Amino acid sequence: MARNLIAQVDLSAIRHNYQLARAQAPQARAVAIIKADAYGHGAIQVARSLESEADAFGVAAIEEALELRDAGITRPVLLLEGFFETEELPLIQQHKLWTALHSIEQLEKLEAYLERHPDSRGLHVWLKIDSGMHRLGIEPALAAGALQRLQALPAVEKLVVMSHFACADEPQRPHTERQLQQIDKAVAGHSVDLSLCNSAGVMHWPQAHQQWLRPGIMLYGASPFTEPQTVASRLRPGMTLTTEIIAVRDVQAGESVGYGASWVAEKPTRIGTLAVGYADGYSRHAPSGTPVWLNGRRTALAGRVSMDMSTIDLSLHPEAKPGDQVELWGANVTVNEVADWCGTIPYTLLSGLTRRVKRRYTDDQPF
Ligand SMILES: Cc1ncc(COP(=O)(O)O)c(C=O)c1O
Repeated sequence: MARNLIAQVDLSAIRHNYQLARAQAPQARAVAIIKADAYGHGAIQVARSLESEADAFGVAAIEEALELRDAGITRPVLLLEGFFETEELPLIQQHKLWTALHSIEQLEKLEAYLERHPDSRGLHVWLKIDSGMHRLGIEPALAAGALQRLQALPAVEKLVVMSHFACADEPQRPHTERQLQQIDKAVAGHSVDLSLCNSAGVMHWPQAHQQWLRPGIMLYGASPFTEPQTVASRLRPGMTLTTEIIAVRDVQAGESVGYGASWVAEKPTRIGTLAVGYADGYSRHAPSGTPVWLNGRRTALAGRVSMDMSTIDLSLHPEAKPGDQVELWGANVTVNEVADWCGTIPYTLLSGLTRRVKRRYTDDQPF
């Protein structure tokens, strides 16, 4: 067999996590965020497995949406960054996509397009307000005017106001409450559906749930929080990343392992070489000590991650041999934990897996 590096994606777990998100706000609907190839899990497969229950899917841009449509996904798909060029608008209509609208310039482009196409109907527009993230969205003070302009367009069938939290994953900070106040002000006097919550909002900010949730990372079983959290503890991992030992050697005390000779054996040590490296998306920032799971117990990286290989300490695994499976993250070593060791977040690890990693899918309720 070829290189045995596999991301096993558990579609039942992803469905469970979607249902858990919905259960936090039973009155709300939820856009399953599957941008960036469903955070590395495979957008088409994830969309297919969620298609009968997800209210809508969220992607970054039209390219990702069209891939879903090409694969036969018919559910609503929301473009979280809206359209980049006016030329996308006919495609948005043709494929019945929903579009965010995050700037007055975009609104002007839309109005100009609709003037040229006065018979257009059926558009779903999610007006994005910048309530404090300061990345995308129109200023709250301009929201009322933008809403009026959109409501005046016969082509706009449905209007939702969305905003995005900067610090929902840090509950003790005051930002989320301040953002909520900004949103309240922006939509005062308008009866319009709202969508505010990413995963952290879904799990921790019930006062922000409103009509539409937008869970992303939690669908994949990873937590947006750094501290343990009640809802997060009920998530099931969406992915198990495994590889195998491809070589075993003994090094003497004082000998080093890997590039930079950064790890030095304190005692005679057995070393296992794994078929995984940073060109697969396993972070080079994973230091010696980062846990892995082998034959029912933990061990850890010893030496730097290189492009195609990594090395682990087999001192406590005298039985280990080439061909043994090693879990890099999954149920036993969580992707959150690996991210912590790497000084990053699970989002970058999951979405950073490259195409060298084979995806395999399991589903306890295949359809
Ligand atoms: C606008 C928007 N909504 C929702 C999400 C989902 O966020 P999370 O993965 O933290 O749940 C994202 C992801 O970055 C986003 O950009």
